[in-house]
Amino acid sequence: MKIIAVANQKGGCGKTTTAINLAACLGKKEQRVLLLDLDPQGHSSLGFGVFNEDARDLYDVFTGEISLEEIILPNVFTGVDVVPATKTLAAAEHLPVRSDERDKQLEKHLAEIRDRYDYIVIDCPPSMGLLSFNALTVADLVLIPIEMSLFGMHGIDRMYETVRLLSERHGRDIPIRLLPTLVDSRTRLCRQFLHEVGERFADDVLSVMVQFTVRLKEAVREGMPIVSYDPASTVAVQYDRLANEMISILQEKVDVGAESEARSRLNAMKRAFEEARSRLGGHGVRQRVILRFFDFEDRDVKLAGSFNDWRPDQGVVTRTNDGIVEKIVMLMPGTYQYRLIVDGIWQEDPSNPEQVPNYSGGFNSLLQVEEVHETAGA
Ligand SMILES: Nc1ncnc2c1ncn2[C@@H]1O[C@H](COP(=O)(O)OP(=O)(O)OP(=O)(O)O)[C@@H](O)[C@H]1O
Ligand SMILES: [Mg+2]
Repeated sequence: MKIIAVANQKGGCGKTTTAINLAACLGKKEQRVLLLDLDPQGHSSLGFGVFNEDARDLYDVFTGEISLEEIILPNVFTGVDVVPATKTLAAAEHLPVRSDERDKQLEKHLAEIRDRYDYIVIDCPPSMGLLSFNALTVADLVLIPIEMSLFGMHGIDRMYETVRLLSERHGRDIPIRLLPTLVDSRTRLCRQFLHEVGERFADDVLSVMVQFTVRLKEAVREGMPIVSYDPASTVAVQYDRLANEMISILQEKVDVGAESEARSRLNAMKRAFEEARSRLGGHGVRQRVILRFFDFEDRDVKLAGSFNDWRPDQGVVTRTNDGIVEKIVMLMPGTYQYRLIVDGIWQEDPSNPEQVPNYSGGFNSLLQVEEVHETAGA
């Protein structure tokens, strides 16, 4: 069983949205998931349409009145159980507890149910109080959503410091991963923020990001995760990729040595950086790039890559000629990763041997755009 704490003391950066959708995506992948709402605002239960002001929550568990098992709401979504929160949970911050046990209350109660789940996702409140400390202490991974806005990066250093202190106090490594959220890559400012996050926290930034979309707000209003409200939307795909990344990172920690994990992440980040740089660099001129595919007659072929934020066919012109599908994009010189979506299924480009492994366990194809001349790939 692995525990992912979704935390950031900054409010409104997408913690709850991420916790709900990550839990739902893991559930759909036949994982047994518990979403634990640690925020007295109770938004996680709201997002699954199961909010009840009178529900009993972890406050009653921490006081010893009932067991954690008794407050679990089973099967609120495929594979997902929820521990709800209400505003009474705020009082848990002030419960008298022995100082050496303050951070470990949650760990103690989770021990009773840990065998039942593959993943526990914890939605933390927007403050670094006792509740968040309990979540970070028990976490196998701290997932920090960062809003790609002017103040989005504020407080991240403090989060790192807090996690480092807790790691020291409890004598174990607590890894951090950063998830850029509310990304609107059409704006130059947002692209700059992405670049900055990459520069400052390179090794820890996930390769997946979550774009800004009103569909998420609509989904919350309906009490549904985006994967069931609008499964074909780009954010649903992005949250699915996040679930894959979490699985691979947390499995890697068990299967592969920590050293090789660090090395492979570093290499992945170096590649991502080169791409970011080539996207933002502004050197050279945009070129018309034509990718030709010969084996997809009468099939629906879409192109998604690092150049269009993995949004299928966005900014891509399609031409069909004698059964040959042509995808035309305007790109700056640089290296890009891309995949094809053939009849709705994501795959690498079968005619391009240049590939790099991706976090979903598959491969992304590589596209190199040279200065000046027009390039024809594939
Ligand atoms: N990618 C997104 N695109 C558009 N809106 C989003 C996105 N992610 C979250 N939101 C919206 O932004 C608001 C804040 O999101 P959310 O509640 O997930 O943040 P939070 O970090 O949990 O907030 P808090 O700190 O209050 O707990 C919500 O209205 C949510 O629907
Ligand atoms: Mg929240």
